[in-house]
Amino acid sequence: MGRFDEVYRRSLEDPEGFWAEAAGAIHWEKTWDKVLDDSKQPFYRWFAGGVLNTCYNALDRHVENGRGDQAALIYDSPVTDTLRVYSYGELRDEVAAFAGALVARGIGKGDRVIVYMPMVPEAAIAMLACARIGAIHSVVFGGFAANELATRIDDAQPKAIVSASCGIEPGRVVAYKPLLDAAIELAGHKPATCIILQRSMESAGLIAGRDLEWGDAVGQGKPADCVPVAATDPLYILYTSGTTGQPKGIVRDNGGHAVALNWTMKNLYDVEPGEVYWAASDVGWVVGHSYIVYAPLLHGNTTVLYEGKPVGTPDPGAFWRVISQHKVATMFTAPTAFRAIKQQDPEGDHIGKYDLENFRTLFLAGERCDPDTLHWAEDKLRVPVIDHWWQTETGWAIAANCLGIEHLPVVPGSPTRAMPGWDLRVLDGEGQEVGPGTIGAIVGKLPMPPGCAPTLWNADARFKQAYLSTFPGHYETGDAGYIDDKGYVFVMARTDDIINVAGHRLSTGGMEEVLAAHPDVAECAVIGVADQLKGQLPVGFMVLKAGVERADGEIVKEVVQMVRDQIGPVAAFKTAAVVQRLPKTRSGKILRGTMRAIADGEAYKVPATIDDPAILDEITVSLKDVGYAKEG
Ligand code: COA
Ligand code: AMP
Repeated sequence: MGRFDEVYRRSLEDPEGFWAEAAGAIHWEKTWDKVLDDSKQPFYRWFAGGVLNTCYNALDRHVENGRGDQAALIYDSPVTDTLRVYSYGELRDEVAAFAGALVARGIGKGDRVIVYMPMVPEAAIAMLACARIGAIHSVVFGGFAANELATRIDDAQPKAIVSASCGIEPGRVVAYKPLLDAAIELAGHKPATCIILQRSMESAGLIAGRDLEWGDAVGQGKPADCVPVAATDPLYILYTSGTTGQPKGIVRDNGGHAVALNWTMKNLYDVEPGEVYWAASDVGWVVGHSYIVYAPLLHGNTTVLYEGKPVGTPDPGAFWRVISQHKVATMFTAPTAFRAIKQQDPEGDHIGKYDLENFRTLFLAGERCDPDTLHWAEDKLRVPVIDHWWQTETGWAIAANCLGIEHLPVVPGSPTRAMPGWDLRVLDGEGQEVGPGTIGAIVGKLPMPPGCAPTLWNADARFKQAYLSTFPGHYETGDAGYIDDKGYVFVMARTDDIINVAGHRLSTGGMEEVLAAHPDVAECAVIGVADQLKGQLPVGFMVLKAGVERADGEIVKEVVQMVRDQIGPVAAFKTAAVVQRLPKTRSGKILRGTMRAIADGEAYKVPATIDDPAILDEITVSLKDVGYAKEG
């Protein structure tokens, strides 16, 4: 039996022993009473009765153990031409100071704080400051519009919002403050305080009595110490797309999260404390939470916070420049970033300009990794390229190649094997397990390992209904795929209406809600079609109300703008078509899967339940008009 098999078997046979051992690497104020509390099934809690502070484990502990002068965070911002290095000592002091600013505004344990910020170190400082005082942060990605922010404000009910005057996208400055003001205007809940980081590219107007500048807020407080919290207390809420416009507030606890994330740094990513680890993502996504902020710091690594893109800041050599300059050992990003680089530098000429001597491994996740991208990265970089599969809900990988345990052979198209702690099964529609190689719903037998969402914010029933009810006793990942006879997992598609655009998770249902609100639209459908760069792109179809005589192009333009205004530029919704009818089953269900197959030029069967097969020809013509449905 290989080393990985041994570790994996132990993790399932004795999960409590396995994770208790991993928990030894974390500092506890009080050890747990029970490693796994299963008294409220199907809800499980890890390290019940334990007390700790995540910020203490991420910062203070390392300072006390002699890492005070080691770089904790490198802020590298080609878009503002800034480089700033924070040692562990400096980062702890900055975090304690900002935690004091929050305390001075009356924020304490259990209070929510929304962080709506671009990729600046203050975003990480705000997150860690919340962790320090036991407040619950909820980071909202900067590419979301005011309406999405408002939904999150109403759900999380924050006492304070931390934001910045602007973010910087290539070629434009994105003013955040007007979006923040609009969101608060739209929301029913009104936060008492907004703390705004003024950036030199754009100064935000402040609302007296509610808003104050970052520096002034810090000046009004005094450095705050770490507040012990229960292992089962929430560390953060991170909203992610559900099947409707109402996002799901994924809850992360303190104890299980710290244990699991710290464990992955050596066992999965194979890095040692002190090495430089870079996740090129955004703090607004789960990858940013776990692998820009928490895991590298918990493990005593140096993390890189990069405010830039893979291409255009200034060229497709941007990643190699960062790796070389900061001696990055391990990098983590989404395949779409590599497709963008490959598109602009197909021969990888920029790679040769940099010394990548310290670079050992590239990890990819966030979307299916197509074998072409995998091979290109392997060929050009000459390091192992490891695909791994995970979700906002799980907080860390569900399937991966654990380099720190045993480097298993890489199989293109597969994120390798189920991670220790994950008992993965593939089930058919009746909940029966299918054999190797057969596609079905990929599920995890409960309990999920530590660090995974214990519930949704203020929505236990929705958590149960969304994840635990289709296949009782199992967590439904929402992904379909198969496991082969060697245990390799293949993740093929979502079983719901979630699409993946440039590694960003979006709900087509949410976009449909926006289109349906247009006064001329009678009904609509949004599907995700294949895209060479971004993996998938949304395309909308609209049937207009009887009597509407306006030009189709005008209506299309309006709905494109509506999605941008209401969901955000990140939705990348740019294409829609007006059609006479939508293809439906006789019971009225829109045949989105068939439309997607036509758009992608795939062979498809006309569903037996279709109401009128002739509609499919009309849809094909419409898709051709907008550049899809190409044969072959
Ligand atoms: N604030 C405001 N706007 C943002 C934003 C932010 N934080 N992030 C993205 N946007 C905007 C972009 O400017 C773009 O606007 P546009 O329609 O005016 O061009 C739109 O949202 C779509 O963004 P994106 O899909 O990211 O496309 P892009 O063309 O800007 O970049 C990639 C494409 C591939 C370079 C980029 O998506 C990327 O680097 N992705 C990989 C890494 C990653 O973040 N993965 C996430 C999970 S690991
Ligand atoms: P998010 O919650 O934004 O991280 O998105 C999670 C979803 O992205 C998963 O449910 C998958 O559909 C997809 N995904 C993430 N990583 C991978 C991967 N390595 N292979 C295939 N799909 C992936």
